[in-house]
Amino acid sequence: MSTGYRRDVTAARIYWLIKDLLMNQPLKIAVIAGSARTGSINRAFALALSRLARDAMDFDILPVEGLPLYNGDLEADMPPLLAELKSRIRAADGILFVSPEHNRSVTALMKNTLDWLSRPNGDNVWAGKRAGICGASPGARGADLSQMHLRQIAVCLGLEVMPQPEVYVQVKDGTFTQAGDFGQERDIAFQRRFLERIAAWIRQPEA
Ligand SMILES: Cc1cc2nc3c(=O)[nH]c(=O)nc-3n(C[C@H](O)[C@H](O)[C@H](O)COP(=O)(O)O)c2cc1C
Repeated sequence: MSTGYRRDVTAARIYWLIKDLLMNQPLKIAVIAGSARTGSINRAFALALSRLARDAMDFDILPVEGLPLYNGDLEADMPPLLAELKSRIRAADGILFVSPEHNRSVTALMKNTLDWLSRPNGDNVWAGKRAGICGASPGARGADLSQMHLRQIAVCLGLEVMPQPEVYVQVKDGTFTQAGDFGQERDIAFQRRFLERIAAWIRQPEA
């Protein structure tokens, strides 16, 4: 066996070892919650997902409610939180949007967050980030139109949003346990598949 051949084999082994290691690392997920309300069912939903994802994903729920209401004048002196949020998003492997619906659209908090983090011009943090979308409502349609509007905005921002599955959760008594897990077996199975699909979406090689 020539030295060159051995070197190639060793390099290939190291490559596969590193790839395997990276594939088994927990994914860092920046979570954007569209509600900051105490007792928010969407925050409860995010918590239940993070508990289900356990070792496979680390959820970082970003304090986006700390941003002021967007006003172009504020760009002269950017809110310090903006830089922190951007660095946490850049450090994340992917993004998960978990949001209620307000009057058949995204919440004001969600839109404010999307707008701020696309500024200043030329420093849009969303461009090229992979993302999943889900949401909850006490209503039967589980925030579906809010998610459709979010998908529309995502196109303009350059977010790469997973097309399927669409996840509309109607929250009723028993949807979540006291401990913060999903309370129904069928929800656990569905949400586990959702998380697996997000992981695969985020990990897929760039085109
Ligand atoms: C201003 C406003 C508008 C709302 N519009 C909708 C709506 O269009 N569709 C819907 O399913 N629920 C709507 N709701 C009800 C919310 O889904 C419900 O309050 C939900 O619990 C909010 O999410 P959160 O618990 O995560 O804060 C609305 C609530 C508010 C305050």
